[in-house]
Amino acid sequence: MSKRTLTTESGAPVADNQNSATAGVGGPLLVQDQQLLEKLARFNRERIPERVVHARGSAAYGYFEVTDDVTAYTSAAFLNTVGKKTETFLRFSTVADSLGGADAVRDPRGFALKFYTEEGNYDLVGNNTPVFFIKDPIKFPDFIHSQKRDPFTGKQEPDNVWDFWAHAPEATHQITWLMGDRGIPASYRHMNGYGSHTYQWTNAQGEAFFVKYHFKTNQGIRCLSGEQAAEVVGKDANSHQTDLLQAIERGVNPSWTLYVQIMPAAEAADYRFNPFDLTKVWPHSDYPLQRVGRLVLDRNPDNVFAEVEQSAFSPNNFVPGITASPDKMLQGRLFAYADAQRYRLGVNHTLLPVNAPKATTADNYGRDGVMALRNGSRHDKNYEPNSYQGPAETGLALGAPKAVSGYTGTHEAPAHTKDDDFFQAGELYRLMSEAEKERLVANIAGGLSQVTLEDVIEKNLAHFHAADADYGKRVEEAVRALRDA
Ligand code: HEM
Repeated sequence: MSKRTLTTESGAPVADNQNSATAGVGGPLLVQDQQLLEKLARFNRERIPERVVHARGSAAYGYFEVTDDVTAYTSAAFLNTVGKKTETFLRFSTVADSLGGADAVRDPRGFALKFYTEEGNYDLVGNNTPVFFIKDPIKFPDFIHSQKRDPFTGKQEPDNVWDFWAHAPEATHQITWLMGDRGIPASYRHMNGYGSHTYQWTNAQGEAFFVKYHFKTNQGIRCLSGEQAAEVVGKDANSHQTDLLQAIERGVNPSWTLYVQIMPAAEAADYRFNPFDLTKVWPHSDYPLQRVGRLVLDRNPDNVFAEVEQSAFSPNNFVPGITASPDKMLQGRLFAYADAQRYRLGVNHTLLPVNAPKATTADNYGRDGVMALRNGSRHDKNYEPNSYQGPAETGLALGAPKAVSGYTGTHEAPAHTKDDDFFQAGELYRLMSEAEKERLVANIAGGLSQVTLEDVIEKNLAHFHAADADYGKRVEEAVRALRDA
């Protein structure tokens, strides 16, 4: 085996990587020591900004295989043939803590999936929860500030967490979900993934459908109680990373079955729930699950920084046949992600191997910027239209258009007949077994009882009372008992 020579960044051989150069034995350092200067300077620049949310995560490559014909609903090429396989990259994450945070915590989990399709990359950036805390993107920075570390104490504060929720009755459904048994998944393999938002599919005839994505884990759902989680964190703060990495290295490849709920576009206006409200589900009795395919993860990234930290998912990366719905939250996200990535990774982050298309090639007139690796050849024009056979638009619609009416303004999302902030939270509570209800109530009371302001406690209790009388009564009693203790 040939011995490799250590070189500087410019490829020159390094003579000594153990001793820095000095003026005489015991003298000061020399500026001419390129290896020392370059090594220290490069080391100082290793960190980049972490994601503002979902900073801590784990990821793997795999494939998606179509098992059922959905061509009646979408013209997306990667879904057009049963048996067709598309390469994928999936990044799981926790939400609130920073890059060094622990894995086994009570928090939603991210489920960000990139399909490298022949029509470009399709990013489905979801969570392990079918709903979310808020329904208007203008509240997102305030919500996240209240859940992340307090700027003075430097840690998450129940006062902030519950104060935000006191003013967000629409969060009651997601709080019930998060404080329940599924709030701490045992691992990334043992949880479902959801698109959460409603998306639009359009078929080859131009007919529109609204869809919700459900990735059901084939490993079975496994969760941890608060006590079990504390023990796991004490033993291995990176427990989810360890589990995913080791399972795939052993060849135990996790998989999920993708189902969709499909609503013909014409039914949206009169559905009892606003179908574009992210705090609501569509009961399966209204829109049953229809199987689409299978997602398998079978390859670990070779390098966490290059492939996981630098990966970039954007809800605005669609392919023809799949487009956004008018969900205000989703619309806000269409802007936020690529903007965050231009700051976090730079304008040319789309050229990094993990982010670039794999089954097709990006071909456009975007040029220059920091680290421009794909910048056109001497034959390529950097403007369009041109007379030199440069890439040109197709003129084909990416999806069916949606009719709109009314006046511009800061409107609340329209309420449908059965819409309020509490009904579905109550439904979820009533579905739980007695033992599940007990654990849910104890988890809520454990946090809420630590809140300083009585008014914040009262407002939150009112939300649980509004969801279900028994739910409210039990949370209230548990909170009082803990505060009187
Ligand atoms: C208006 C509401 C939201 C805003 C403004 C927002 C914004 C962001 C931003 C800026 C990032 C970091 C992106 C990056 O640096 O690469 C992020 C990450 C993420 N968000 Fe959101 N988010 C919102 C709601 C949601 C919702 C509702 C979900 C799930 C249904 C979600 C799932 C995720 C996931 C999974 C990631 C991590 C992606 C990855 O693994 O790289 N977010 N979000």
